[in-house]
Amino acid sequence: MAESAASHTTAPTRRDFLTLLTAATGAVAAGAILWPVIDALNPDAASEDAARLIVNVADIAEGTAKTVQWAGLPITIRKLTTAETQANEFVVPESLPDPAGYTSRVNAGYPAFVVVVGLNTATPCTLEGDAASDPRGDFGGWVCPCDGSEYDPLGRVRKGPATKNLAIPRYSFLDAAQIKLG
Ligand code: FES
Repeated sequence: MAESAASHTTAPTRRDFLTLLTAATGAVAAGAILWPVIDALNPDAASEDAARLIVNVADIAEGTAKTVQWAGLPITIRKLTTAETQANEFVVPESLPDPAGYTSRVNAGYPAFVVVVGLNTATPCTLEGDAASDPRGDFGGWVCPCDGSEYDPLGRVRKGPATKNLAIPRYSFLDAAQIKLG
């Protein structure tokens, strides 16, 4: 019995070899055809650069903000005054329509700067409040004079039909004077 099972394990035939070779060649050919297609899906350097924007924040005076366009959106960068920081730092998050603490709205390394998408989360309009002379409502941030939505300087909704805080885009600080969006 044992002898007959061993005699059935035969050396690979020429046919086996050709089958393997054909399969390997096919795989390489498929790879050679598919790779350019796959590679074309990768973002090229130009579109990666377009997806990022470096913004100078050194020219933003305390208590004011500037808005730049990035990825089709108005991105607003605001520099807080000491008084604005003190007035908002210890607000109880649970007391807000969309709970968010101070530290979740700023970068730990540069807590005087607030970076938000400057679009009202109710009526998606461009808000007023960048300039110190602009109307800023009861909470000193941004307002939509049309629907009455009001935000504090951290972009947290405080009043009006809006129920969500201003969105925070993906950004990072390169240094104290520059941020990178994207
Ligand atoms: S709809 Fe917001 S400013 Fe008019």
